Parts: sequence; structure tokens; C-alpha cells
Amino acid sequence: MTKFTVNDRPVQYRMDPATPLLWALRDASNLTGTKYGCGTGDCGACTVDIDGEAVRSCQVTIAAAEGKFVTTIEGLSPDRGHPLQQVFAADNVSQCGYCIPGVIMAASALLRRTSDPSDEEIDAAITNICRCGIYPRLRGAIQRAG
Ligand code: FES
Repeated sequence: MTKFTVNDRPVQYRMDPATPLLWALRDASNLTGTKYGCGTGDCGACTVDIDGEAVRSCQVTIAAAEGKFVTTIEGLSPDRGHPLQQVFAADNVSQCGYCIPGVIMAASALLRRTSDPSDEEIDAAITNICRCGIYPRLRGAIQRAG
């Protein structure tokens, strides 16, 4: 049995320890805001926060998450009131929206490190793929949220 904390709640998964965290979150915890895109660590749709760092949950086994603190998009704020969520909603930043939870989780880790990131810092930190190509809008929104 694997134990860790998800969105400030203790969880135990009776699953193969090699199960990717992405699937434990989605299938066992019904936290479907964390998305599946590629399964190979490339797209970033599955990004969650583990102990303060943005991590691609398809590349982390639940065994590797043992004892850690995991935050998903559902746990980022109790009322969707995180500045990133407010700016993304108010400014209609998303297009199809599929990549946005992962982008917001990566951006929230970035904004904890620096509240005024440059375009270059954003590009280095937010390597998530957006098939709608809204990258310029993402940069502006992250800077406003900071
Ligand atoms: Fe994890 Fe694409 S689904 S990086």
C-alpha cells in the first residue's frame, strides 16, 4: 500500500507500486483535472505539484511519491481563487482548455520562485505543449497573475 498526501488529505492506494501517479490520481481519486496527453513526459498535460516542484505525473510512480505532498489543480485553491485561475478565467486565456490545468500547475511553481518572471523565464519553466498555440497569451497571463 502506498501512502502520501494529495490536496492536503492522506491517501492510500492499493495499486501496483509502479502505477504512474497520473492514473492513481485520475482513476482512484477521481481527480480528473490532471490530464493525459502523451504518457511520455513531453506534453505537460499531467503536471502536478510535488513538494513544491512542478512534476509530470505520468513519469512518477506512486512508489516514488510515497510520503510526499502532491497538489493537483483541484487542490491549488479552495475556491478557484488562485491568481492564475482568476486571470485565466477573467481574460479568456484558454482556447480548448485541455492543457490549462498542467500549465497552471507549472506556472504556480514558477510564481512561487519569482513573482515577476520574464518571457525567457516563462519559456524555460513552462514547457507544456498547447496544440491551440496560445503561448503569447500564456506568457501575458502568467505575468499578470504574478
Ligand atoms: Fe505526462 Fe504528457 S501526459 S507529459
